[in-house]
Amino acid sequence: MTTAPTAPTAPVLPLPARHSGSCPFGPPPAYAEAAATGPVTRAELPDGDLCWLVTGFAEVRTVLSDRRFSADIRHPAFPLLVAGARELITDNPDFLRLDDPEHARQRRMITGEFLVKRVETLRPEIQRIVDEALDRMTAGRTTADLVTDFALPVPSLVICLLLGVPYEDHDRFQSLSRTMLSRESTVEQLREAQEGVLEYLRDLTERKRAQPEDDVLSRLAARDDLTPDDVAATGVLLLVAGHETTANMIALSTALLLEHPEQIPGLADPATLPGAVEELLRLLTIVHTGLPRVALEDVELGGVTVRAGEGVMAMLSTANRDEAVFGGAGRRATDELDLGRDARRHVAFGFGVHQCLGQPLARAELQIALETLFRRLPGLRPAGEREFRTESFIYGMRSLPVTW
Ligand code: HEM
Repeated sequence: MTTAPTAPTAPVLPLPARHSGSCPFGPPPAYAEAAATGPVTRAELPDGDLCWLVTGFAEVRTVLSDRRFSADIRHPAFPLLVAGARELITDNPDFLRLDDPEHARQRRMITGEFLVKRVETLRPEIQRIVDEALDRMTAGRTTADLVTDFALPVPSLVICLLLGVPYEDHDRFQSLSRTMLSRESTVEQLREAQEGVLEYLRDLTERKRAQPEDDVLSRLAARDDLTPDDVAATGVLLLVAGHETTANMIALSTALLLEHPEQIPGLADPATLPGAVEELLRLLTIVHTGLPRVALEDVELGGVTVRAGEGVMAMLSTANRDEAVFGGAGRRATDELDLGRDARRHVAFGFGVHQCLGQPLARAELQIALETLFRRLPGLRPAGEREFRTESFIYGMRSLPVTW
């Protein structure tokens, strides 16, 4: 990108901002500092290109829902958070990084698999997976790492079951997806991980085509309006999005609730549990680095003109802390946990046509996992040094030692 965005005086923030020893549950404070200077400010991508940092609630929703902003990663000015990563962009991106009508065509093929109605029928199965994970975690032990023993296996088992991916392979695809999501990966490592996981999904799709089973990949593989590459790309998207996100939400939510034990009873009542999970999604907003888009036309946004061909990063975390939207009399400040808050308007799942397809599933998993964990282990407490995953584009935890 060559055009220089034209905001008058705001400082230019290098992206992605770093965590700097501040509250470990929040995004890097630099985003909130930028938000304090205005809803749309300047930022610099690792390649040295300038882009716009969009932090206001209304402006973030505009970027994500206005067709003048494109999610097509093949656009030459699409903002990328890894230097040199443009050479990894293929002609065949997954539909997260395509615009309509192609995005809608591909998304429609799996929408039915993740609708609220369908996910409701999966609740008993999710409950079984959660209970069995807790049985294994507690059998003959009094300490565990909540990340590896609970937060990761639960969503991983669920998405493997739905997609028809053998769970025995989880070590392989989890380490590849970690590399894909880490900003510390080199372009070469990213290329290898991307190719490795695509190859894995291509092989699996071939097998599903030959021997179909009752799962999402088999149904996709059987379609003649999708190429094998389309199916593999969708498979990777679902596999990565389906467990890394929810796993980190379970781990972070648990760690945060252990710091606010007085709020844990909010999970026990079926009437308040869904609202409590929305508040955790709002406050933790694990996609810390924001959602990338590129302007296709000139757009007036938050007092500046975003020119056609300029990149923008829509910052969900600052939008989700807007006092005017989520604050109010009797409520805690929006950078604090308040399970009684009405957080339903949060944008932690994005907004507009790309809004998270898996959100009914993520909600069901979070509700069941957190309610069951604190009900079955009322004495749950920290048992050592916890580690956060600050290098990942999806914020989360590497370890959370606990006892009960
Ligand atoms: C707490 C867990 C989750 C969070 C916070 C989350 C967040 C998001 C966000 C912010 C987006 C929008 C990206 C954009 O507009 O650029 C998104 C899209 C998506 N998510 Fe999730 N997600 C979660 C769980 C899941 C799960 C469990 C699945 C698996 C089925 C999933 C599948 C997808 C897909 C397929 C898209 C692309 C939708 C599209 O482009 O039309 N997500 N997610």
